[in-house]
Amino acid sequence: MDEYLTALENELRALVTSPKPAFAAYYGMFKYHLGWTDAHFMPIKNDAGKRLRPLLCLLSCEALCGEWRRALTVAAAIELAHNFSLIHDDIEDDSDERRGRPAVWKVWGLAQGLNAGDGMFVLARLALDRLCEAGLNNKQCAAISAVFDEATLALCHGQFLDLGFEARLDVTTDEYLQMIHGKTAALISAATRIGALLATDDPRLIDAFTRFGENVGLAFQMVDDILGIWGDPAITGKSAATDILAKKKALPAIIGLNDPHAGATLREIYRQPELSPADVARVLEILEAVGAREQTQQRADEFRAAALSALSAAGIQNRAMDHLREIAEAMTRRSK
Ligand code: IPE
Ligand code: IPE
Ligand code: MG
Ligand code: MG
Repeated sequence: MDEYLTALENELRALVTSPKPAFAAYYGMFKYHLGWTDAHFMPIKNDAGKRLRPLLCLLSCEALCGEWRRALTVAAAIELAHNFSLIHDDIEDDSDERRGRPAVWKVWGLAQGLNAGDGMFVLARLALDRLCEAGLNNKQCAAISAVFDEATLALCHGQFLDLGFEARLDVTTDEYLQMIHGKTAALISAATRIGALLATDDPRLIDAFTRFGENVGLAFQMVDDILGIWGDPAITGKSAATDILAKKKALPAIIGLNDPHAGATLREIYRQPELSPADVARVLEILEAVGAREQTQQRADEFRAAALSALSAAGIQNRAMDHLREIAEAMTRRSK
């Protein structure tokens, strides 16, 4: 996948450039977050993130028309939108670490963190406009813009639900699915849908790729929930147990809270205004005992299977399709 990643990185670097020396440190925050520099803006090679969404976009396009380069600008725009959401998510979740380093807001403060996320989002939007200026017909441009905007709005809706659920103990699995559909699956399915839209006008194929992205996105978030509780911070680059401390209604927590035996004890712990480290340890013990980790992975496996079957329904076989299947597997059986 190196060829795609190198081209993507070049595209991103071209988009993230300061128009004036006065703003160098503003764009410096983006470069830091994207893994290109340290906090003093000195070039480094760091954990830049997995770049999954742009890869899915490029490969979806290639699978359907043989050309991935036509999706490069929009793939970069999708990665910028994802990174906007991460910069703000760390503020919203009170998370100190991202990709093994202090989160942007921990280095430059909450106000500059907000402002950096905002700018990253606008850069994504401007990149998308550039794609539309580059010869696509108006109908295609309007369709791609709408998918992109609806996905980023859905992401904000999902974040709204995610934060609201912290105060509740009665969140249902259906409500959880609606929440992760917004915060995570929407952008991932936008990536595969836009890749398909750039390659074909066959609604059946576009639909198959959209459903692939949607289901793999749901499975991906469920695995993220497992890693948020049981993952190794040295590998994920994010601190563990913060989801429990924040009373996040990740799927393992919902499974525990709804358990006929352990649910009552868990609810009692969660009803306290603040959880102590001992409470967190007890919650982990209970979640483990009720099999919340296995049940969550099982749900993720079901959504992965639905994703792969949506992809098969497209009835296409080529190298890009093989890569898409591999990425779907990697996204849903990961440790990072
Ligand atoms: C993290 O996404 C946020 C979720 C939607 C789970 P990724 O795990 O794709 O983040 P990076 O870009 O690889 O760091
Ligand atoms: C994932 O949020 C979705 C977005 C960032 C919009 P989480 O809060 O679940 O993800 P991590 O674990 O912080 O990456
Ligand atoms: Mg969050
Ligand atoms: Mg978070």
